[in-house]
Amino acid sequence: MKGIRIAIDGPAGAGKSTAARLLAERLGYKYIDSGAMYRAVTLLALRFDVGWEDEKKLAMLIDKHNICQNGLITTIDGEDVSLAIRSKQVSEAVSVVCKHPLVRKKLVEMQRNLAKDGAVVMEGRDIGTVVLPDAELKFFIVADKEERARRRLKEMVALGKDVTFTEVLENIKLRDLLDSSRAVAPLRQASDAILVDNTRMPIDFEINIMEKIARRKLEDKVEF
Ligand code: DC
Repeated sequence: MKGIRIAIDGPAGAGKSTAARLLAERLGYKYIDSGAMYRAVTLLALRFDVGWEDEKKLAMLIDKHNICQNGLITTIDGEDVSLAIRSKQVSEAVSVVCKHPLVRKKLVEMQRNLAKDGAVVMEGRDIGTVVLPDAELKFFIVADKEERARRRLKEMVALGKDVTFTEVLENIKLRDLLDSSRAVAPLRQASDAILVDNTRMPIDFEINIMEKIARRKLEDKVEF
């Protein structure tokens, strides 16, 4: 049997990217970070001075430029922008850019195309609900807000950033609100997604469980 399609969704900072990357590695699958594609469009808008609310021009940027996503690496017209799409400016604007239906339509099309051959772990907010509603396996990963803020703070301090726990927590709350209250493709758990709460779960334990479920699904022995 060819590899299955695994959708991983959940709120910001729940560890979706790490889980998706490690699970893909263990299964020998392709890993796709759909959020990186929304970030790439945002970077293009910054570079070409297109306004966050100019839906038509944002969509034209997608038509004009070649955005490629392959897990940790994102390129625009062959240029590696994996670092540039993580800048503060992009992070602040991406939640506005990603709310436009036309932008979403174009990126969803590209994401479906990336998953068409199976053997893929795709991570985002609407993968199980909109992008791949018929994915063979879906996970919805969550963790307490405070725990997500603690993890994020640790990462930021390691990068030498000067932030407080309260600032990080407020940012997480705001992103949750924006992701789940969006009119188009809001963040929500698909009815057939398996809920993983990793608040008090070591990463190895989490990936072991996900891998086991994926392998059982692949053998088609169990219906979840
Ligand atoms: O996962 P991330 O923080 O890199 O995502 C960047 C932004 O893109 C964030 O505002 C949520 C949005 N996003 C989305 O709307 N749909 C997806 N499938 C993935 C991300």
